[in-house]
Amino acid sequence: MSRPAPVADWVTIPDLYRDPFPIYDRLRAEGGVHWVPAVGRYLITTYDAVHATEVDQGTFSANEEGSLQIRAMGHSMLRRDDPEHYPERKAWQPVLRPGVVKRTWTSVFERNADRYLAELVAKGPGADLVRDFAAPFAAENLREVLGFHNVTQQDLQRWSQTLIDATGNYADDPDVWSRGERSFDEVDLALDEMLRWHADHPDHSLISTLLRTPDYEMPIEKVRANVKMTIGGGLNEPRDALGVAAWALLTHPEQRRLVEDGRASWQTVFDEALRWIAPIGLYSRQVTRDTVLAGVRLPAGARLGICILSANRDERVWADPAAFDVQREVKPHLAFSKGVHVCLGAWIARAEVATVGLPALFGRLEGLDLVPEDPAEIGGWVFRGMLKLPVSWRGTRSSAAPPASTASPVPAATAAPGPARRGPSVAVVGAGPAGCFTAQAVRRTLPAARIDVFDRLPVPYGLVRYGVAADHQGTKAVARQFDRLFHDEEVRFHGNVTLGGELDLATLRSSFDAVVLATGLHEDEVLAVPGARLAGVTGSGRLTRTLNGHPDEHDGARTVEPLGAEVVVVGHGNVAVDVVRLLTRDRADLHGSDVDDAVRDRLVEDLRVVHVVGRSLPHRARFDPVVLRELADLPGVAHVVHGLEDAELPAGDARVEAVRALAASTSTGARVRVEWWFGFTPERFEGTARVEAACFRGPRGPVRLACGSVVTAVGFRADGTTPLVPGAHGTGRVEPGLYAAGWLRSGPRGTIADQRADARDLAALIRADLDRGAVGTGRPGRDGLPPLPGAVDFDGWRRIDLRETLDAAPGRVRTKIRIREELLRAARSDLPLPRTDAGRPDRSAAPDLPLTIAFGTESGNAELVAEELRRRLGAGTAAEVVDLATATPGDLAPDRFLVLVCSTYGDGELPTAVRPFRERLLAERPDLSALRYAVFGLGDRSYTRTYSRGSELIDEALAGCGAVRVGEYGRHDAGGGEDAARVAGDWFEGVLAEVGAPAPVGAGA
Ligand code: HEM
Ligand SMILES: Cc1cc2nc3c(=O)[nH]c(=O)nc-3n(C[C@H](O)[C@H](O)[C@H](O)COP(=O)(O)O)c2cc1C
Repeated sequence: MSRPAPVADWVTIPDLYRDPFPIYDRLRAEGGVHWVPAVGRYLITTYDAVHATEVDQGTFSANEEGSLQIRAMGHSMLRRDDPEHYPERKAWQPVLRPGVVKRTWTSVFERNADRYLAELVAKGPGADLVRDFAAPFAAENLREVLGFHNVTQQDLQRWSQTLIDATGNYADDPDVWSRGERSFDEVDLALDEMLRWHADHPDHSLISTLLRTPDYEMPIEKVRANVKMTIGGGLNEPRDALGVAAWALLTHPEQRRLVEDGRASWQTVFDEALRWIAPIGLYSRQVTRDTVLAGVRLPAGARLGICILSANRDERVWADPAAFDVQREVKPHLAFSKGVHVCLGAWIARAEVATVGLPALFGRLEGLDLVPEDPAEIGGWVFRGMLKLPVSWRGTRSSAAPPASTASPVPAATAAPGPARRGPSVAVVGAGPAGCFTAQAVRRTLPAARIDVFDRLPVPYGLVRYGVAADHQGTKAVARQFDRLFHDEEVRFHGNVTLGGELDLATLRSSFDAVVLATGLHEDEVLAVPGARLAGVTGSGRLTRTLNGHPDEHDGARTVEPLGAEVVVVGHGNVAVDVVRLLTRDRADLHGSDVDDAVRDRLVEDLRVVHVVGRSLPHRARFDPVVLRELADLPGVAHVVHGLEDAELPAGDARVEAVRALAASTSTGARVRVEWWFGFTPERFEGTARVEAACFRGPRGPVRLACGSVVTAVGFRADGTTPLVPGAHGTGRVEPGLYAAGWLRSGPRGTIADQRADARDLAALIRADLDRGAVGTGRPGRDGLPPLPGAVDFDGWRRIDLRETLDAAPGRVRTKIRIREELLRAARSDLPLPRTDAGRPDRSAAPDLPLTIAFGTESGNAELVAEELRRRLGAGTAAEVVDLATATPGDLAPDRFLVLVCSTYGDGELPTAVRPFRERLLAERPDLSALRYAVFGLGDRSYTRTYSRGSELIDEALAGCGAVRVGEYGRHDAGGGEDAARVAGDWFEGVLAEVGAPAPVGAGA
């Protein structure tokens, strides 16, 4: 059902200019799409509606008829749609790429910051931070980036302001037009002169680079228009971002302290300031065909105002959105827009504001403050920023002392930790992924720390060993990283030690400076339906532990019974899909896994049908499309899909397509049938002694599925042994000195890879508590503990590991010991341990593995990541970096390990220049069966349907040629606030451990 646009005749432009936020709050509450007579446009104000316009340029065109911007500046890329827009954007890209910003521009910005800070200081307290610093700083930066060596920064400021004023000249003021036209002509004149000059004097600037772009020569009128647009858009926005961020910190002392204490980075301040008050508050789009947006009809030709200021404060996306809060959960803001026009200057802006400008101001102006008698003012709604920002300061510090450490847009992996170098003693309880990542992060953040990791089992690695499916050895490979950790003198493992048993919390706290609880959640969530506790109804956690040989599930009393001929799996998350795959996969197809065949065979010997039932439709289900595609390819398994008959499914959705691929997959002579049920809610399980049927309510009424057992995969919860309320300590700090990590901290959410990022935050928090004296040092650590005679040390685990690998059945990587006493016996045996400094007998298998790091990029992030990975390997390694834009399938050498780093563009497509490479792979089908490779995908999770799809397209094409992917599938979410190079670096370490290469040199960040 759609409705005509509501009319917001109560909105006035002066009110919007003064304070648009209360107006936007009301417009969002009333649906988010309104006709606003005062503006003469439909205003789009909710996050979802704005995002919908950004990803559909076919319907929401940037090429507005009668655009004032076109009149003021000429027809730039910003007012074109693809395909015309794309080549112009591409020509602009090389100079603004993150790698170039890092290598070339950041030092230019540092020099300019020195200069304009000195001028600000010379003016004395009472000077205006925007007029006297941010504006000339941003203008001079842009002048150099563009390459206008024949004009001054003041010219840039005048041009920028008059061109923008003309763009907004809805009142048709002839003076505004004439000032704009004067600047228009001045820019053209200066540009013509510079084009001639740069022809003979090439440098890194944009004008210079344009002259040297191969394959594409931009007509001069397009160059002129795009240069004017960049002058209009590349100066005031960083100026305003800097002004607003500074104002935010000066008016929020508690937030400022977080940054100055190193608990929040300048990058976070930058992003939160952009979210809080987006410098480009509104931009325009025009509707090309009758359409419906957020339930409101929009006619073809309708002019829209896309209200970024409003979308960035949508209460459905951010809690308490009006607050400036550098510790809020990171969600992708829209200040740089999202679609094909996403800001090309974002890396420039980030470097000048977050890396250089803010740290310089706050680091060097001691006691920087507002001037109470001359208060700051802010205004604007199309563009919003500080109108004035007078400041005072007590004195100046030298440039060597910025207040906080994490300022680089691409923090070097080896960035030296700051001043905190004391040696605290840290206990980590729980040696699962959260505990091990925490130990790793603490070791890196506090290199002198002494760390002891305890686990109630005789073996480490928790969910990695007992939760990750046996046939996903790539994911399990993270254990190799942890092995390395425990080879460190200062990190010790103590298995077979239970919190509340041999050790109590009080003893730990009195012995260690900091204690981190990372004991996880073990208990399966129980469905709130009748019959949920019948025999034969098993939680997925228990089943996975059973299949993984967990000692608790193999002590006789608890063993899971054979599942019978028909099994119902409830849940549509990755865990459910793992269960289905493990139950249905052919024995021979489990080659290379560590599945316990005896256990699995006993459970599935009669299995013929698996029903997989979930409440949601495919596009709302929680599984990752990749895991579903894996299922579609399994030999001997047939798939049937129910529940989609009446459903309206979005086109192009990756999950929907994965489900369709299942339905279309054919398997002759299938051993097992998997029936997928979408949109079915569980109502009850029936049976007397044991479950006999599962009953659901579906779109066309009730359904009863007869079954021998039910597996519920609906989450995990606390049990009697859980030491804290999961999720109650969101930052990870229970109190100074006591911390929670992993699921205990965040509740049962997040993958193993997510734990890595959380661990880093937690380590920073512990360090901040130490730095500010909230946690002391000097406790004795492990020396203060009572004797732990039953404990298994790391060598004990290595003996278990060796025993299990030596006993591996043919085609299996190990045979797990599943009885606790036998584990202890193996740990205490005199099995001789191989001498190795990296923890595993097979470590030397590939001491100098030759690597090719291939990147596929649209705007340079993937290239930067590839370079960073190369840098981490150090000079001695035979690694080369290649661009997939220029590579051919023939370049793939099977004797070199391939590391693929690739982004996603369009809507789930490859970067434009990489498409031919994939097409050739598909067409030529070279035999790549000897090639091994690993994949790191760059994407943006706000593209929910196509997150990271580009990398998957290459992955699938390589797999189609027989190449074998190893290691974890790495991903980076550009909207997530984490640095891509750093995430990739961590991932790379795991991959290298998996392929048996030596540790990268720069892994110690
Ligand atoms: C914090 C500072 C900045 C913000 C908030 C910002 C914001 C934006 C936004 C929202 C757009 C899309 C507008 C639309 O779709 O109509 C955009 C596009 C653009 N920005 Fe920025 N910008 C900033 C800094 C810069 C800088 C420093 C430069 C250049 C050095 C720059 C160059 C561009 C260009 C060339 C485009 C057009 C891209 C295209 O049409 O494909 N921006 N910017
Ligand atoms: C126009 C455009 C479309 C995008 N589409 C997607 C997408 O469909 N899925 C996704 O995961 N990421 C998408 N992204 C996000 C990029 O993949 C992400 O920003 C990445 O870091 C870019 O890396 P690159 O600079 O190497 O190209 C898109 C970005 C842009 C600018």
